[in-house]
Amino acid sequence: MQSVQVTRFGGSEVLVTSEAPDPVAGSGQVVIDVSVAPVLTLDTQVRSGWGREWFPIQLPYIPGAGVAGEVSSVGEDVDPDWIGRRVVTDTDGGGYAERAVALVEGLIPVPDGLGLSEAAALLHDGRTAMGLTENAGIQPGEWVLITAAGGGLGSLLVQLTHAAGARVIGAARGREKLDLARQLGAEVVVDYSEPDWAQQVREATGGAGADVVLDGVGGDIGRAAFEVTVCGGRFSAHGAPSGDFADIDSQEAQRRGVRVRGIEQAQFAPTDVKRLAERVMSEAVAGRVRPVIGQTFSLEQATDAHAAIEARKVIGKTLLVI
Ligand SMILES: NC(=O)c1ccc[n+]([C@@H]2O[C@H](COP(=O)([O-])OP(=O)(O)OC[C@H]3O[C@@H](n4cnc5c(N)ncnc54)[C@H](OP(=O)(O)O)[C@@H]3O)[C@@H](O)[C@H]2O)c1
Repeated sequence: MQSVQVTRFGGSEVLVTSEAPDPVAGSGQVVIDVSVAPVLTLDTQVRSGWGREWFPIQLPYIPGAGVAGEVSSVGEDVDPDWIGRRVVTDTDGGGYAERAVALVEGLIPVPDGLGLSEAAALLHDGRTAMGLTENAGIQPGEWVLITAAGGGLGSLLVQLTHAAGARVIGAARGREKLDLARQLGAEVVVDYSEPDWAQQVREATGGAGADVVLDGVGGDIGRAAFEVTVCGGRFSAHGAPSGDFADIDSQEAQRRGVRVRGIEQAQFAPTDVKRLAERVMSEAVAGRVRPVIGQTFSLEQATDAHAAIEARKVIGKTLLVI
């Protein structure tokens, strides 16, 4: 089969498509004929060699943390009824390939009425957006500031928090992503490449700041977003495409009564992974949530997909369609 291999950490050019042996389903496993593999910002960071202390990946490896496709074979102790079913699932690497192996216990059937591309777009971002929205405990009328609002995760957070009754402020860079955030339910949009963006957030909220901040960027933008969180508010530091999670001084957070939660809240137990994924997929089937698939690439174009994400040229979700 064709797969994308990484034999050394580095720029997007280290992604090379080549022939690899077909995977075989072992005990408790299935093989999936992959139709779509979501591309995460994290995939680009891991490929660059970033975060080795948290992601101790051994070279060579096939990138990709999940797939959508059809089960084509099963291990000897797995129910053969799975064969032919449309599923999405996390993979422990190996997603950027024509065939991928996955644990049967992690398979999530794709409901009728949902395409495999939409299911792939929702696999990680959907459950994370659902989980973060649940954790934030949003009350109708609260101001919610979402950074990276034009990304795959951010565009879902805008929709879900708006549906929960929040007054959403979508923050991103550039007109296209801001227009998307507005279409999806943001009442106010701000461009954080403008130096006074945090002041714009303050003014939009009548001087008070945001009750809830869902920060998908980290670094200086995340830090500035913390500054405009109201006393007694909630701050989610789940994103680090800037290179670092928002660095929040815990004493300052305590003094201001801001509840800060980090990336750990997005690491869900297996039962929650399924519950949240099923919920967000059924919302999509019902038309209440729209995964925004901004761009698709072929397996051979994985390099272009990574380069586009790193250049911040993508909008919504990026997929490899195989
Ligand atoms: N997706 C998940 O399930 C999940 C789970 C846990 C944590 N996270 C974390 O949440 C963050 C966002 O999630 P995502 O992967 O799905 O990405 P995403 O929502 O598609 O968005 C990434 C966004 O980050 C912004 N960005 C800011 N600085 C950037 C930089 N230096 N390079 C590239 N992009 C930059 C870009 O928007 P602008 O150009 O508008 O700034 C881009 O749209 C990531 O750090 C990710 O690891 C995601």
